Amino acid sequence: MKAVDLWQRFKDSKKAVPSFNFTTADVALTAAKVVKKYSHYCLLSTSERELKFNTMEVVVGIVKGLKEQGFPVFLNLDHGRDLEIIKKAAGLGYDCIHFDGSTLPLGENIRITKEVVGLCRPHGISVEGEVGQIGGSSTVSDETTGASILTNVDEAIRFVKETGVNLLACSFGSFHGMVEGKTKVLDTAILEEIKKQVVVPFVLHGGSGIDNNEIRRAVDAGVVKINFNTELRLAWSAGIKEYQKEKPEDIIPANELAHADQKVEEVIEAKVKICLGINV
Ligand code: 13P
Repeated sequence: MKAVDLWQRFKDSKKAVPSFNFTTADVALTAAKVVKKYSHYCLLSTSERELKFNTMEVVVGIVKGLKEQGFPVFLNLDHGRDLEIIKKAAGLGYDCIHFDGSTLPLGENIRITKEVVGLCRPHGISVEGEVGQIGGSSTVSDETTGASILTNVDEAIRFVKETGVNLLACSFGSFHGMVEGKTKVLDTAILEEIKKQVVVPFVLHGGSGIDNNEIRRAVDAGVVKINFNTELRLAWSAGIKEYQKEKPEDIIPANELAHADQKVEEVIEAKVKICLGINV
């Protein structure tokens, strides 16, 4: 199955496909095992920043290897802003491209998104566009960096009609990362209004630190892809630190990673269940 078919399949199912950002192969493998266990799918995502560490060729190799082993995973470029990086990702075999032109004036965002759609469609690559700004970054902090600007319904409708994107990322109350004492409350009315005029599956960015009921409300309103990063990072780094504290003499990476991945697995399993509507 191609990623573009995923959205058709899950569009009216009240289920969503999780997207997990990863830097190291062990996290990608952990996510792949969990989604396979639940007979579900996930996107394995790399932002431009994560790619600086890994290189695109290495990331493509990791996901290709997982696919060859029968894992139901797809490779996604998260918040691609540079057209050269997008072209390279499309050429190397990424399944999904998120072009983030949200900080551009609407006309410019539409123009470049259309270019990305033109580039990707012949290869069957799914394109996600973004209207409105989703602030923050995937860390835990005292305050959100970069304010969000909620998606304007009319702009979103025009954007979808003119670009023909497969998915639309909307800013409707979430932000990237987790902020002490700040809860994420979602304004799903924005999605309901857009849906009255155009058919497009939605993406929820900033999936970390959102209550399960809020996530379910988003899925009920038409979200089919949910991005998770910060909670995975938290779990992984807590696992590494804990292991190093408990066994400072052990220098074997596989032991440290196995400990970290147990914690990551718990988070991923909880996210897969909420996406599927299990036990909620
Ligand atoms: P969180 O870091 O809040 O999970 O958001 C991740 C994300 O939206 C990546 O695009």
